[in-house]
Amino acid sequence: MRIALIGIGKIANYQMQAISHTKGIQLVGAHDLDPLRAEELPGSVVFYDDLNKMLQRSDADAFLVSTPTYTHFEVAMKVIEADRVAIVEKPLSTNQQQVDDLMTAARTRKLPLYTAFHPSYGREVEWWREQRDDENFEMGHLIGFESCFSDPYCMDGKLTLGAVGKSGAWIDSGASSLSILARLLDIESMSLVDGRMTAIPSLNCAQVQGLGIYRFKTNDRTGYGIVDTNWTLGKNYKTTRLWYENGVIELDHAKEYGKLRLEGMEELVFNLATDKPRLVNHYCGVFANLTELFEQQTDNKELCEVIHRLLFAAL
Ligand SMILES: NC(=O)c1ccc[n+]([C@@H]2O[C@H](COP(=O)([O-])OP(=O)(O)OC[C@H]3O[C@@H](n4cnc5c(N)ncnc54)[C@H](O)[C@@H]3O)[C@@H](O)[C@H]2O)c1
Repeated sequence: MRIALIGIGKIANYQMQAISHTKGIQLVGAHDLDPLRAEELPGSVVFYDDLNKMLQRSDADAFLVSTPTYTHFEVAMKVIEADRVAIVEKPLSTNQQQVDDLMTAARTRKLPLYTAFHPSYGREVEWWREQRDDENFEMGHLIGFESCFSDPYCMDGKLTLGAVGKSGAWIDSGASSLSILARLLDIESMSLVDGRMTAIPSLNCAQVQGLGIYRFKTNDRTGYGIVDTNWTLGKNYKTTRLWYENGVIELDHAKEYGKLRLEGMEELVFNLATDKPRLVNHYCGVFANLTELFEQQTDNKELCEVIHRLLFAAL
């Protein structure tokens, strides 16, 4: 599969590393509004200073949109309207109408549309799915969850450089958390109980804090959980706890480990980090999933719609 990149910023660097580690995928072209960004590219990749030119001339099979979140809609729509395949960094866009419009545009043209939910491919998430599927621990039923995504993007009342290109605590991190939950429980059974957001008019972001309370079904029982996103805690802390009848598993998405506490047993810690940066591990998972779906000529539109519906419901 040949990929072209739109937006050569911070995240593109990790994406390029992951592409070089994934069989069957190759970076062939790239575009950025800032021509100086071309310096980041390997020599074999063609840089285009104009997106329309790239969409007309590149032999890429798909175009990965890694521009700031508020531009995803406009850029992804351009790709689709040129009858080319778009892969978009999560979140797909910043409101429900834009998600609906992109989906309609892609479906009308019978084009795949793939959203890159990179945190859901964290090694700790993959690891817990394996443990659960192999029934390695007697956990009992899942009864609840708590997923916290905190970034130090608002300090001393001001947004930090890390917030550049992001839309808001809830829009950006809520999508991450929900995509992880989609791999750990039946996301289609989830519905919103309540949403609580903090927006500060003097700060140029949609919200600095956001919380969603959800209910979900598991084996005909109802469970409850919280997604908690925050830019004001001053720390990089990303953890999902899953409470089962017989214990709790804590997945640390920032440090890549799993911590298991089962009733009557000592706490067990499983270190899942590798020599690669966490974000490279994530994108290796994204590209493995993408190439598999591409071979089957399919995408993750339906999953993307469920995640964004739950995300925007809380606003
Ligand atoms: N930085 C992270 O840790 C991180 C992690 C996961 C996902 N993301 C997501 O990736 C996306 C990009 O984030 P980033 O941190 O790499 O941002 P960034 O600001 O570092 O890079 C964005 C790049 O896009 C270019 N650009 C802006 N508008 C453009 C347009 N209309 N057309 C072409 N190029 C354009 C900019 O010149 C810049 O080089 C965001 O949606 C963000 O939420 C970022």
